[in-house]
Amino acid sequence: MSEPQHWWHNATVYQIYPRSFSDSNGDGIGDIPGIIGKLDYLQQLGIGVIWLSPIFVSPMDDNGYDIADYQAIAPEFGTLADFDRLVAEAKARGIGILLDLVVKHTSDEHRWFVDARSSRTSRYRDFYVWRDPAPGGGRPNGIQSTFGGPAWTLDEATGQYYFHQFARKQPDLNWANPELRAEIYRMMNWWLGRGIAGFRMDVINLIAKEPDRGITADGPRLHEYIQEMHRETFGGRDLLTVGESWTATPETALLYSGRDRHELSMVFQFEHVMQQWHEIWGKWQPKPFDLVAFKRVVNRWQYGLVEDGWNSLFWGNHDLPRAVSKYGNDKRFRVESAKMLATVLHLLKGTPYVYQGEEIGMTNVPFTSIDQYRDIETLNMHRLHVEAGLPEADFIRGANANGRDNSRTPMQWSAAPHGGFTIGTPWIEANPNFSTINVEASLTDEASILGHYRKLITLRKELPVIVHGRYRSFLDDHPACIAYTRTLGDQVVAVVANFSAEPVTLEVPEALQGSGDCLVSNDQPVRSLGGMVRLAPFEAFAILRAR
Ligand code: GLC
Ligand code: CA
Repeated sequence: MSEPQHWWHNATVYQIYPRSFSDSNGDGIGDIPGIIGKLDYLQQLGIGVIWLSPIFVSPMDDNGYDIADYQAIAPEFGTLADFDRLVAEAKARGIGILLDLVVKHTSDEHRWFVDARSSRTSRYRDFYVWRDPAPGGGRPNGIQSTFGGPAWTLDEATGQYYFHQFARKQPDLNWANPELRAEIYRMMNWWLGRGIAGFRMDVINLIAKEPDRGITADGPRLHEYIQEMHRETFGGRDLLTVGESWTATPETALLYSGRDRHELSMVFQFEHVMQQWHEIWGKWQPKPFDLVAFKRVVNRWQYGLVEDGWNSLFWGNHDLPRAVSKYGNDKRFRVESAKMLATVLHLLKGTPYVYQGEEIGMTNVPFTSIDQYRDIETLNMHRLHVEAGLPEADFIRGANANGRDNSRTPMQWSAAPHGGFTIGTPWIEANPNFSTINVEASLTDEASILGHYRKLITLRKELPVIVHGRYRSFLDDHPACIAYTRTLGDQVVAVVANFSAEPVTLEVPEALQGSGDCLVSNDQPVRSLGGMVRLAPFEAFAILRAR
C-alpha cells in the first residue's frame, strides 16, 4: 500500500489561545506581538504548525469564537500588520499558521446579522436561520443550546426566532444559502492569500443542520458543503485542514479525511474525551478515568483509519481540562505522568497536537469561587445547575475537574508575578503554582517535561516508523497498562506505559519482546523486553528494534 506523504504527517501542531499566551503591552490580555516574542521558544520545541484560536474582531462573549468581522484583527490582539509579521516570522522558523475558522455561526454583532435582524426583507436575512413562532406561540421546537437554555431566541422587532446552537450572541449561519457560502469562501481565500498554512474548522459537523427535523449535527448536506469548500478554496494546495467534530466516528472520519474524498486533512474528534463523562450529567459530574474503555476508543480510531484517513492526536485543548490533571497525576507524579501521557500519544499514528502549557505540565486551576471563572459555558451552566438544585460546592468540584477555564489561565513563563504572562493584571487569574511550574525553570532542567516533548517531537520528524508504521495493540483488558507496537519495513517501535500510581509487574506478550535502542523513557532507559517487566508508577518507554 502506498501512502501519500504530506508535510503535516510528521509535523506537530501547537495550539495557542492568544488571550492567555503572552501579553506584550501590559493590558492583561495576550496578543500577537506577545506570540511573535515566543516564536524562538516554539521553534526550539520543534513544532511545525501553530493553531491560533480566533484573533478576529469580536465582542468576546466566547473569547473570539463569536466573530463580528472575519477580515479584521481584534484590537486587543493587534493589527493586520502584526498578523502578517507573525506569518512571516513563523515561516522563517519553519512554522505554519492555522487560522481558526468559525463559520457555523457569527457574533450577533457581525454586520450580516445586524442587517438581517433589521427587517424580514434584509438581503442578509437568509444568511441566518429564522423561523416563525410555533402555531400556538412560543419557540419553534425544543432544541437546547450547548451552553444551556433554548437554542431559539425571539427577535421582537421582526417577530421571528433565530437559531443558535451555542450562546444567543452566536446566531447560526444558514449554509443552505449559496450566497453565504460564496462569502465564506471569498473570506477564506483572502486569508490564504496572506500565506497561512491552513484552517482549524470550528464545529464543522454543525454547519449543515435541519432544525425543523431535529437535525442539529451531520446534516445530509454536510459533506457536499465541505467538498465545495475544498473546491473553492484550499483544493490543490497542500494545506493542513482539521475539522472539529464532537460527533465523528471512525466511519465518518473516513468521509472527512479519506484520500479521494477531497475534504479535509483530518478530523479532531472527542470520543476518548466523552468516554470519560457522566452518562447524564456530562462533564460536570466527572467519572474516574477508565483505562480499558479509553484503550477501546484509541483502538477503534487507530485500526479504523489504518488504510485511509488520518487521525488527530491530543489530550487537551482550550475546551478541555489540563491533560496531566485529567489523565495523569498532578500531585506526586506530575512530571512522570505528564511524560508518560506524551509518550503514549506522540508515538501513535496521526498528527499530535500540544496545547499551550501542556509541554511544561501545567495543571487544572484550584478556583474556589464562581467569581474567579470567566468562561461563558461555565457561568451559564453554574446558573442553570444551581437553579436546578445542584449544591454550589458540587458545581465548583465539577468545574475544577472539567471546566474550560482550567486550560485558559495564563501561560506560565517564569516565577515572576502572574507567571510572567503580563506586567499588568491578567484577565483571568494565573494558576498559583506558576512559581514552580514554568518555562524558565523547565529550560534549565534537563529532565523536564519540556525536554521530553522536544525529544518526542524530534523523533517523529526523524523516524518514518512513527509516522506511518502499522499499529497493533496489546494488553487491551489490562486495567493499568497500555502497550502497542508500530511497524514499518524492518523496524518496530514497542511502547509500554503504566497509567497508574502503583508499580506494576507485567507479563510481556511475545510480540512485544526483544531488544534494541531506547527511544524515550521517563525512568531508567529500557533496551530490552523479556518475559516479565516491572514498571514504576507512570513509567513509560519506547524501544526501537529490528523486526
Ligand atoms: C468550539 C470551540 C469552543 C466554542 C464553540 C463555539 O467547540 O472550540 O471554544 O465555544 O465551538 O464556537
Ligand atoms: Ca496585550
